[in-house]
Amino acid sequence: HGTSKINDKGHLEIGGKDVTELAAEFGTPLYIVDETLVRQRAREYVEAFKASGLKFQVAYASKAFCVMAMCALAEEENMSLDVVSDGELHTALKAGFPVERIHFHGNNKTPDEINMALDANIGCFVVDNFVELHLLNALAADKGKKVKILLRITPGVEAHTHDYISTGQQDSKFGFDLGNGSAYRAIVEGLKLDNVEILGVHSHIGSQIFEVEGFRMAVDKVAGFAVQIKEELGYTFQVINLGGGFGIRYTNEDKPLPVAEYVKAITDAIITNFTNAGYSLPEIWVEPGRSIVGDAGTTLYTVGTSKDIPGVRKYIAVDGGMTDNPRPALYESKYDAILANRANEPLEETVSVAGKCCESGDMLIWDLELPKVEKDDLLAVFCTGAYNYAMASNYNRIRRPAVVFVKDGQADLVVKRESFQDIVGNDVIPARLQKAA
Ligand code: LLP
Repeated sequence: HGTSKINDKGHLEIGGKDVTELAAEFGTPLYIVDETLVRQRAREYVEAFKASGLKFQVAYASKAFCVMAMCALAEEENMSLDVVSDGELHTALKAGFPVERIHFHGNNKTPDEINMALDANIGCFVVDNFVELHLLNALAADKGKKVKILLRITPGVEAHTHDYISTGQQDSKFGFDLGNGSAYRAIVEGLKLDNVEILGVHSHIGSQIFEVEGFRMAVDKVAGFAVQIKEELGYTFQVINLGGGFGIRYTNEDKPLPVAEYVKAITDAIITNFTNAGYSLPEIWVEPGRSIVGDAGTTLYTVGTSKDIPGVRKYIAVDGGMTDNPRPALYESKYDAILANRANEPLEETVSVAGKCCESGDMLIWDLELPKVEKDDLLAVFCTGAYNYAMASNYNRIRRPAVVFVKDGQADLVVKRESFQDIVGNDVIPARLQKAA
């Protein structure tokens, strides 16, 4: 998919670059991002929204993969940017991302984070709860500012996805609950505050969702709420944000729809609901993360040791693992992979791919079909663009890999491989523990 193909040497090629050459130049493990595919995904969203005729913003949920080059790419592709921490905000600001297109999320923004965002004049705060609503108003007042906000509501729609990443159901740490009247009270209270302007509401029902039904249900609930607020409080929402969560294909078991179909389901539902209610059509915002960068990422590893337990299993170990991709250990996520240096050879054995961390749970893929694997082969694991680098750790003091963008036969380093200095750079040995000179 994307610009990936097998070249006549039998090597995997991405963005016109032979990955064996990338391995030689940048080392492994290496995150490779197919820039053309990221741009294509972004354009699929933008084009689908244009086709709806509605006003819109497609905000890239930077939590999926937040580095300065990615912010620059999102800007070029006319996306807005969703940030959830001071670190993501700092990254966006450093990359020169247009501040009016930055949206700040999170269920526990600290006063420092809010002040930083106020000083930067970001476009919108997505307010999660009552404490934050009043804190934001007070901090904005201190600076003599009035800021645009969306109120995040929990519509009570439970997305069909992994428990830990479902956030639309009532029992969730996020948002104002629609069912018990909190969302209504939040609007009432928010409208009384002088330093916030309510643009509308936000709803995010989960992640890695395949069916359009959950999004349609969320639109129904949000539209019903908008109509109620208009009728009872005389206030009209200008913006409805439907969050992210559009699924991607990690393995053949996953059956996502084309981006355009999710967008069409949402925009059709918005148009129907609001038109029927005689409500002027709101602007629609979405926040895809995974579906922008997920399938554009490939992680390249070098195979090291192996262990064959006859009649039981053969393990092969790679030079990374749960430190660069914690998703299999955290969510039992499935991935697909090939031998990138012998991609045209027949599949001959079933192996399970282990990482190099000191725990048995550090397994990337169980029961993968590969050609006969040898030491120093290159293993390419697909669909690692989202929530991999972003969730990478230094467990076992393993250095985070480099990230390269590839496009049209060119490879550009966008994140350097961590150094030993990065590993010990923040360590301090107190004087009483230092060896006498
Ligand atoms: N908007 C909000 C408010 C969110 O909470 C999220 C994801 C998104 C947008 C983007 O969702 P996406 O389009 O990427 O599905 N670490 C987990 C995923 C956590 C998603 C959290 N929120 C994983 O690796 O699967």
